[in-house]
Amino acid sequence: MVKIRVPATTANIGPGFDTLGLALNLFQTITVEKAEVGNKEVIWSDTPLVSDADNLVLTALEYALNLKSQNNLGYRLTMLSTEIPISRGLGSSAAAIVAGLYAANYLIDFQFTQQNLIDMATALEGHPDNVTPAILGNMVIASMIDENVVHASIPFPDDLQLAIFVPNFKLSTSVSRKVLPENYTKEQCVHNVSRISFLVHSLLTKDYTHLKIALEDEIHQPYRFPIIEDSEIILTMLKGSDAYGCFLSGAGPTIIAMIPKGLVGFQYTINLNNQPLLHQWQLLTVSTNKSGAIVEFIK
Ligand code: HSE
Repeated sequence: MVKIRVPATTANIGPGFDTLGLALNLFQTITVEKAEVGNKEVIWSDTPLVSDADNLVLTALEYALNLKSQNNLGYRLTMLSTEIPISRGLGSSAAAIVAGLYAANYLIDFQFTQQNLIDMATALEGHPDNVTPAILGNMVIASMIDENVVHASIPFPDDLQLAIFVPNFKLSTSVSRKVLPENYTKEQCVHNVSRISFLVHSLLTKDYTHLKIALEDEIHQPYRFPIIEDSEIILTMLKGSDAYGCFLSGAGPTIIAMIPKGLVGFQYTINLNNQPLLHQWQLLTVSTNKSGAIVEFIK
């Protein structure tokens, strides 16, 4: 039997739409053990969050078995409670997909390579920026090129930390993608090319002079923030704080600020209780994940 732990992820990181992602130390955990041929069992350690039909762990597991014509393989899959907030822009679906693919890979004695898993996860998720860091850990640049995901890692600076604002409402990625335009002007494209260049420079050199502008974006955030209630208040509050800058996490609604590590008084400056918010927002401080998905053999 194996225990599989997959980290949460934040995608886009401002200007890096569908390209940049970063793994976070919040986990979806499952266990899977081999069973008699055809004997498939799904157990929830807690109240089931979704039906089998909507369980992305199961969908990904069966998808991968099917690719190897091994649909008959039996298993006992246990869904342990997840730490990743669902439909909040923190990669819950990517983590579930990756967990399912890893489970299948264990059942077929690890025939898939890591690159196979990245490519399959991207095919299921539709974009590579959550699944790739969920597999590899750390911060990743990932792009679908000629039917394969090409990726490169950026070590996330250890003197930065993330302040993560998670609301008590969900936003589905498909709804949040539908508000995006089909086409962009040359100015908007140049804007993002410049910002992402500054972002990569800031992270690689740890010189944060340009980090605030580096997190700006014209591709998705201006269209998404208007459908996220309270976001204007949170953004205004962050602009007046010591944060280097902030961005929408993935498709939202979570908002993340990059702050200097150990910044004293940040929580006080952005006291959420003093704001006329319509919803409840929780401020989490979560460290970045370096390991990516982990498979551990247990008895
Ligand atoms: N890059 C994707 C998007 C991430 O912004 O729609 C979704 O989690």
